[in-house]
Amino acid sequence: MKVIIPVAGFGTRLRPHTLTKPKVLLNVGGKPMIHYIVEQLLRDKLATSIVMVTGFLGDMIKEYLDSTFKFNFTYVTQDEPKGLGHAIYCAKESFSKNDETLIILGDTLFDVDLKKLIHNKHSVIGVKQVDDPRRFGVVEKNKAGMITRFVEKPATPKVSKSNEAIVGLYYLKNSDLLFESLEHVMDNNITVKGEFQLTDALEHMLSKKEQMTTYYVDGWLDCGKPETLLETNRYILSKRKKSNIKALDSSIIHPVHIGKDVVIERSVIGPNATINDGCKIVNSIIEDSIIEKNSHIENSVLSESIIGESVTVKNQIHNLNIGSNSEIKGGHHVSK
Ligand code: UTP
Repeated sequence: MKVIIPVAGFGTRLRPHTLTKPKVLLNVGGKPMIHYIVEQLLRDKLATSIVMVTGFLGDMIKEYLDSTFKFNFTYVTQDEPKGLGHAIYCAKESFSKNDETLIILGDTLFDVDLKKLIHNKHSVIGVKQVDDPRRFGVVEKNKAGMITRFVEKPATPKVSKSNEAIVGLYYLKNSDLLFESLEHVMDNNITVKGEFQLTDALEHMLSKKEQMTTYYVDGWLDCGKPETLLETNRYILSKRKKSNIKALDSSIIHPVHIGKDVVIERSVIGPNATINDGCKIVNSIIEDSIIEKNSHIENSVLSESIIGESVTVKNQIHNLNIGSNSEIKGGHHVSK
């Protein structure tokens, strides 16, 4: 089965981090988010090929994947992020025949048994019950559980009779029909907020009598926004076993991830702190935060913060969201 992972978006909601690093390489729980997706696919031996649709900063993704995994990834380029539908269409060139395909969004982790999801004679759309369906694409189904309609962000309660949101995991049996439907969407310039959507192609597939059902995905871990990235960080760390951590005159409150060559002195770390390789934390309290590699935090209290690589933070009490190679040094010292 061919797996398509679109990773060509700008990740604007995670700026400034995504100005220097593609979103899927941002760290969560000690590894880039794309790492977990690929790891699961390779462990389950599900993919005959993995097609990465890359764009802005795509070379960094290629370099990471090729140097980390023993797998022959296929890379196709989406020149401009014209929407998820367009990104998937870019993968067409790597399909030589009609094939089944699994599409996984690169910025979403799934705690789900993919083998069960694809064990179906029909195409399958991963869904999750949500309280307010208006922010999502949702599916409507008949009594037999087959999808009858896709609705992108249902505006009024009348059309939002379903609250099964599409989570970003699609198992489609018929790649020829998928690409034909994407072509239909683009030829007819069917756009939502100026982007070609995959949902519209799925709706077209339904009209061509493609049978689609749903699979309930409980573990849906979005990494697309600062707050959801931190939530996913908490989830990943909650599954970790405690390990012994070297720290001088400090307290470690699990769960935490502490990378290699990290120096911790006179600090309280955790819960839910991811401190990556080469960081130095002195006289600080850090909880519920992600600190990327080689950053230096001193005399600070950080919570709900995302700190890029090689950042210096001194004398701060904040929820910080600051990009790589920044320096922020206040005048006040935090005494412990
Ligand atoms: P998102 O819409 O969540 O990602 O797309 P984005 O556009 O990068 O983020 P924001 O909205 O600007 O913050 C979900 C996935 O689809 C990919 C993204 O890279 C992400 O992995 N995508 C989206 C593409 O590859 N191309 C596109 O044109 C749009």
